[in-house]
Amino acid sequence: MSYEHTSVMPKEVINYLNCTNGKIIADCTIGGAGHSKLICEKIISKGLLIGIDQDPDAIKNAYNALSDYKDNIKIFYDNFKNLPSILSEAGVDKADGIIADLGISFNQIEYGGRGFSFQKEEPLDMRMNPKTFLTAEKIINAFEEKKLISIFKDYGEEPRARFIAKRIIEERKKEKITSSVRLAKIVEKAAYRKKKGRYKIHPATKVFMALRIAVNNELGILEKFIEDGVDSLASKGRICIISFHSLEDRIVKHKIKAMAKGCICPADFVKCVCGKKPKIKIITKKAIIPSDEEVRLNRKARSAKLRVAEKI
Ligand SMILES: C[S@@+](CC[C@H](N)C(=O)[O-])C[C@H]1O[C@@H](n2cnc3c(N)ncnc32)[C@H](O)[C@@H]1O
Repeated sequence: MSYEHTSVMPKEVINYLNCTNGKIIADCTIGGAGHSKLICEKIISKGLLIGIDQDPDAIKNAYNALSDYKDNIKIFYDNFKNLPSILSEAGVDKADGIIADLGISFNQIEYGGRGFSFQKEEPLDMRMNPKTFLTAEKIINAFEEKKLISIFKDYGEEPRARFIAKRIIEERKKEKITSSVRLAKIVEKAAYRKKKGRYKIHPATKVFMALRIAVNNELGILEKFIEDGVDSLASKGRICIISFHSLEDRIVKHKIKAMAKGCICPADFVKCVCGKKPKIKIITKKAIIPSDEEVRLNRKARSAKLRVAEKI
């Protein structure tokens, strides 16, 4: 089985992670193993790659893709929210680098068969990990209107959230909504009219993204992951996070900023009483974005933002 995904900002990731022989690096979103492979090339013969993914297809692929490095890898089918216990199971006290390339892979969208794409007739599932409980079908058919509106608004920044939620409620009364194409058609009917006969983006794009985020609790685990990640790093170890939409990037940016900040006592306090010390140094003052050339070759990279911080 071949797994299709083009890694985003590969050179930048390898450089910022300072990958050299003997380092211990955790790739928390192994996906197509593109970043992992490059990391392995740099950290052998003495280093160790801890690879994590919550999608069993990615895990299966990783064993094949990284077969040349089998003495230097430990792979975990798990959610990266469990990073501390994963590292301890791997016998690692502190890592030298951590990378999380958030979101989903091209393979999941194109071949996952789980309704990530509205262009294919697939069951409305959207779980990256098929062992979890909540599916997009459950949200669409069982959640009350208010909750649907808040998912579409908060995770998709969808301006037509109210109309779309109403339409979904009407349609699901007629017949359970179970397929991605049917949902896309319902959303399309509740969306803006086309300008000059064309949509700028398909009207279902934001709703599908919002559902995916809700099903996989993508935003809810991010802050704690960054906190745990930093705690798991050795001194001068680096954490690199690639995000693909503004809500995600905002969380990463604010969390990193907060952890890089020292004393938080009010300005008029003569002496610090909070005792807060910075845990990290911010390496990328502004997010790094892919080059024009990379975007030309891989359109999916266009919204990527990479932020890097170093443990003090
Ligand atoms: C964009 S892809 C990563 C691609 C990879 N960096 C590469 O170079 O091929 C994102 C991957 O992260 C996984 N993922 C997303 N959230 C996760 C989480 N909370 N825990 C573990 N894996 C996660 C997805 O299943 C997917 O395989």
